[in-house]
Amino acid sequence: MLKFPQGFWWGAATSGPQAEGTFNKPHKNVFDYWYEIEPEVFHNKVGPDITSSFYHSYREDIEMIKSIGLNSFRTSIQWSRLIKDFETGEVDEDAVRFYNGVIDQCIKNNITPVMALHHFDLPVELYDKYGGWESKHVVDLFAIFASKAFELFADRVKHWVTFNEPIVVVEGQYLYQFHYPKIVDGRKAVQVAFNINLASAKAVQVFKDGGYSEDGKIGIVVNLTPSYPRSDSNEDKKAGDIADLFFNRLFLDPAVKGKFPAEIVDLLLKDDVLWSCTQEELLIIEKNTVDFLGVNYYQPRRVMAREEGFNGTEWMPHKYFDNYEMPGRRMNVHRGWEIYPKALYDISINLKENYNNIPWYVSENGMGVEGEEKFINSEGYIEDDYRIEFIQEHLEWLHKGISEGSNCFGYHLWTPIDCWSWMNAYKNRYGYISLDLQTQKKTVKKSGYWIKEVVEKNGF
Ligand code: NOJ
Repeated sequence: MLKFPQGFWWGAATSGPQAEGTFNKPHKNVFDYWYEIEPEVFHNKVGPDITSSFYHSYREDIEMIKSIGLNSFRTSIQWSRLIKDFETGEVDEDAVRFYNGVIDQCIKNNITPVMALHHFDLPVELYDKYGGWESKHVVDLFAIFASKAFELFADRVKHWVTFNEPIVVVEGQYLYQFHYPKIVDGRKAVQVAFNINLASAKAVQVFKDGGYSEDGKIGIVVNLTPSYPRSDSNEDKKAGDIADLFFNRLFLDPAVKGKFPAEIVDLLLKDDVLWSCTQEELLIIEKNTVDFLGVNYYQPRRVMAREEGFNGTEWMPHKYFDNYEMPGRRMNVHRGWEIYPKALYDISINLKENYNNIPWYVSENGMGVEGEEKFINSEGYIEDDYRIEFIQEHLEWLHKGISEGSNCFGYHLWTPIDCWSWMNAYKNRYGYISLDLQTQKKTVKKSGYWIKEVVEKNGF
């Protein structure tokens, strides 16, 4: 039997924009707006307006989460819901009532609430007015939002996350067009990466200066995609290092070590695309590192040295590498993502050896599957054995990392209850609990019953 450390977090994660529905929001985030102007972009034209209706059903949803044994839960506070006036920080009273309800319901059910402040959900007004994350003013407005959230909720929320998957904002909004406003601009991408690092550090600063770290902790959630080069050749290894620099270390290093990797700065300088920043800003990043790390892990990155010519409109690290379709790799065909559980062990050891063994947890891992209705059994629930197997394999490698000394304190599945996914809407389902979109009925899947036993035994 594999036993996990005492007090291990067994939980699941969702986000405000993917679960709440847009009910009663004073502002729209970029996805709310994008759906309004281009509904056809979203699978079956299903948008974020209703989702799993957490805004209305959070009491029952949290009870269901408890019923499958989970002891921790991450969601996010939507900037576009909490704040009425972005410049002054005036809050929306209905949002305060709602988030208080969510937090209190978690605590009542002995579930540790983890709250993120940004989950891809920039208020669209801040893009229209200032260029969103391209703007340092928006960085300051984020710090105002963060300070309001701490002031209102940090008496009960003891674990905060500044950003979820910040690199995805850079990729989606500025490189690969899967987030509104779908810009392709490497130079802006570089500035945005810097500004989000700064915004995260400023939120940490506000947290520390406000005295919230006396009994609270603040972290960041990064999606790590360990880079495995095609071969041992110097060219492929260099390609792997560059992919790692840009897709992992660009946020990991400043958040944990307070510094951008010198190699990134050199490469950006060489191409004359280095961000604009001041010494004072670099100091804020240096001084305000995180207390803990959340790691979202879904798939690795297989990399080879670039073979085709570089098209100048692409992001500059692509000068050096291409993704590599390794023959024989195991795939989740629904999502088109590779399944490679050993990467969780590699991440564990990397954090132990190169990141000061920072306390961390798996903040997301999981398997999106299309057409799960076909696995409904005669008792009316989904038999998702593939998900159980997936989780188990990942936990086995994680356990090995922990037994070799990595400081991992939890595992969260994406997601507790099937929720809305960005452009894919409800195409792929990830939850321990299924959602019937027509009736909003929520039903525990086999994996939900399974995880309950795992939590009870603190292992399997
Ligand atoms: C990562 C993101 O944080 C989440 O919003 C998304 O839905 C899941 N991955 C699944 O793709």
